[in-house]
Amino acid sequence: MHVLLTGGAGFIGQHTLAVLLERGHAVRVMDSLRADVHHGKPWAPPAGVELQIADVRDAAACDRALTGVDAVIHLAAKVGLGVDVQDLPDYASSNDVGAAMLFAAMARACIGRLTLASSMVVYGEGLALCPQHGLVPPAPRLEASLAAGDFEPPCPHCGQRLTAQLVAENTPFDPRNAYASSKVAQEFYAQNWSRVTGGSAAMMRYHNVYGPGMPRDTPYAGVAAIFTSALRRGEAPRVFEDGGQRRDFIHVRDIPAATVDACEQHRAGVAAFNVGSGTPRTVGQMAQALATALAGPAPVVTGGYRLGDVRHITADSRHLREALGWAPRIAFEDGMRELAHAPADLRSLGLS
Ligand code: UD1
Repeated sequence: MHVLLTGGAGFIGQHTLAVLLERGHAVRVMDSLRADVHHGKPWAPPAGVELQIADVRDAAACDRALTGVDAVIHLAAKVGLGVDVQDLPDYASSNDVGAAMLFAAMARACIGRLTLASSMVVYGEGLALCPQHGLVPPAPRLEASLAAGDFEPPCPHCGQRLTAQLVAENTPFDPRNAYASSKVAQEFYAQNWSRVTGGSAAMMRYHNVYGPGMPRDTPYAGVAAIFTSALRRGEAPRVFEDGGQRRDFIHVRDIPAATVDACEQHRAGVAAFNVGSGTPRTVGQMAQALATALAGPAPVVTGGYRLGDVRHITADSRHLREALGWAPRIAFEDGMRELAHAPADLRSLGLS
């Protein structure tokens, strides 16, 4: 196939590009080389790949980029949690407007296959088990509770402590920050596009992606990158809350297989796929794994918190395994050891 890969110069994008090429697809990359990601550094694609440096919010650029294309993988986005409310306009513009412009251009070009990078953050706290009320959406965590060191979200009906569950794709949306809201918006725009054009859309809800080439040293970096940077400076990783918050850390080389499988195989209507390893860890365990790998200082649990954070969010990726035959291949311990010792720059990994 001839695939347009937006965001192909990014962390997940470069790994996805490598897999598309391995599988014999022709690829055009569209990437704006955002200053807050690329810091003005040039990026060159591998031989044979066409690069269009442009923003998906530019309608004419989208029309050019889509010429001759059979399928689109849309990864280009502003990522991270959002530092504060002043980030809202940029998330809305980069992610909501960007997706809307791209989907409108796909309709003009009669391209009917979309694979969209979404996120587990669309579920907010997901669903959890209350001993009295069964499966419930956990109530939002109040700042006063967080400040008092009470980090577990309560049952919305009786306030009792909940047991977190693996969330399936039919869990209702509950975005708790600007980035999450923009991913929900992108999914809805994709549904609108699919309904009107008859195109197929696969929403890939990625869990916490880590691995070589992770963006570091920005306020929008993921926690594994922040801890690695600290340890390399000889400092202890600073773990927020009590370290017991659970995530599913999935290696970046496991992501493109799922994404490209969906691009190749998903053909009818709209489908969502959770993309997680299936083996949740606490942030405290992750900090310890990196500290051990780098023989660095033990993690420090600070009790600090961020208001936009959810406590536990862990995926049930059965649908992806069953529908597309995907399975993650990189074990947590191996992946964390590799991240600890990997060069900081994707260019050193030979991916571009
Ligand atoms: C991450 C991604 C998000 C993605 C989602 C999918 C980032 C920044 N966010 O969100 O794009 O959609 O996974 O599930 O990559 N923490 C610390 N110390 C720190 C920083 C963070 O303990 O210095 C804690 C946070 O409080 C949180 C956890 O680590 O509990 C994870 O934080 P983060 O890496 O920002 O990821 P998510 O919010 O899970």
